[in-house]
Amino acid sequence: MNKAVILVGGPSRATRFRPLSMHLPQPLFPVGGKPIIWHQIKALSMVKDLKEIILIGFFEDFIFRPFLNRCQEEFPEIAFKYLREYSQLGTAGGFFHFRDQIVRGNPKNIFMLYTDICCSFPLNDLLSQHERHGRLGTIMVTKVDRSSAHLYGCVVVDNETKLAEHYVEKPETYVSDLASTGVFVFSQEIFRFMAIALEKRIDEFENERAKESAYGRSEESDEVEDVNRLRLEQDVLRQMAAEKKLSAFMCTGFWRQIKSAASAVPANALYLKKALGDNESFLAKTTADGPEITGAVYIHPTAQIHPTAVIGPNVSIHARVVVGPGVRINDSIVLDNVSIKDNAAVLHAIVGWDCRIGKWGRVEGSQITSPDDIDEVTHLGVKVNSICILGEDVQVKDEVFIRNSIVLPHKEMAGNKHNEIIM
Ligand code: GTP
Repeated sequence: MNKAVILVGGPSRATRFRPLSMHLPQPLFPVGGKPIIWHQIKALSMVKDLKEIILIGFFEDFIFRPFLNRCQEEFPEIAFKYLREYSQLGTAGGFFHFRDQIVRGNPKNIFMLYTDICCSFPLNDLLSQHERHGRLGTIMVTKVDRSSAHLYGCVVVDNETKLAEHYVEKPETYVSDLASTGVFVFSQEIFRFMAIALEKRIDEFENERAKESAYGRSEESDEVEDVNRLRLEQDVLRQMAAEKKLSAFMCTGFWRQIKSAASAVPANALYLKKALGDNESFLAKTTADGPEITGAVYIHPTAQIHPTAVIGPNVSIHARVVVGPGVRINDSIVLDNVSIKDNAAVLHAIVGWDCRIGKWGRVEGSQITSPDDIDEVTHLGVKVNSICILGEDVQVKDEVFIRNSIVLPHKEMAGNKHNEIIM
């Protein structure tokens, strides 16, 4: 039997996802027509003999309940559970803290998945390789551009044995162009290994405390750290690699991080394209009396789209959206209750809940071509080259053009804006 843990973080995380995470937790933000975390769950539902999925986070218990109830109906063979950390315990702390619940039923393999990623999730291939090599854990890696490798956890891999020889978190100098994807599978013995890592961490913590009481607290250490906080990357994976207990599995499908709000747009496109390749029936198609649809498009059944509108490719339109005549939408996410009036255009953008775009209005960002473009939000204090984002309840007046900007919630936009963050 196999199990999986998905780390969902907490409300103080995902700050880069603002203004969209002000309305709902990042893991529940929709990409490809479904919450980000649904894609992890769907992929896990296809893993052989996977019986339970546990979400670990620091959000209030009720937040994920309706979503997990829906998952329970959609995937009845899998048990779902949400476990709340008493404080943010880091990427391995909560996993270790809840070990008794995780090992209940004696699972042979335990997947761990991060939420802030989108991926083709070849989990059965990952599991087969993990079982074949029989090491304590397997990390899924992907090839990234050499020039951006320093942004990731980098893994040096022996091609023949698939042994992960070194793990370095965000290395200052070049180490490898194979980056951790935030997808792992461990054998049950991982908890014994983590117990040792935690002891080491507690020792370090106490030494630090002793130094502080002797010499006073440094200015940087204002944040009170929990002694049980354990980081998967620095405290566990690095040591596993050093002890030759970690394998690496190469992900050949797609993978992107979903860190900033803008990165939801390429993630949306990747999942919609995958759905198109899989011939999924939930995708919209051009009909005799409907709008023109190009490429991969998701339209919620309650949305009303005027037949003269042109939608796609790579567009998700959510519940109760009303799109007027002559509207053009391309490479964008339009969230619930948005109204887009006649002849408006929405290109490379995210339009937040309850927004209104007036007649001939234009909300336009730049197409993101490389994963590294996304976080390049400002240059000399000016926003450049990014997805255009309207927070919740933004009103764009008739004929107003909002370009490459981020607009915080509840604003009325009566004049054109280019390359600005509107607070
Ligand atoms: P970088 O941007 O890579 O510096 O890190 P980050 O803080 O944005 O992400 P991190 O690598 O810390 O998080 C990876 C995943 O773990 C995300 O899905 C987070 O939501 C989740 N996560 C991070 N810290 C915690 C934690 O303390 N508890 C839980 N339950 N999840 C966490």
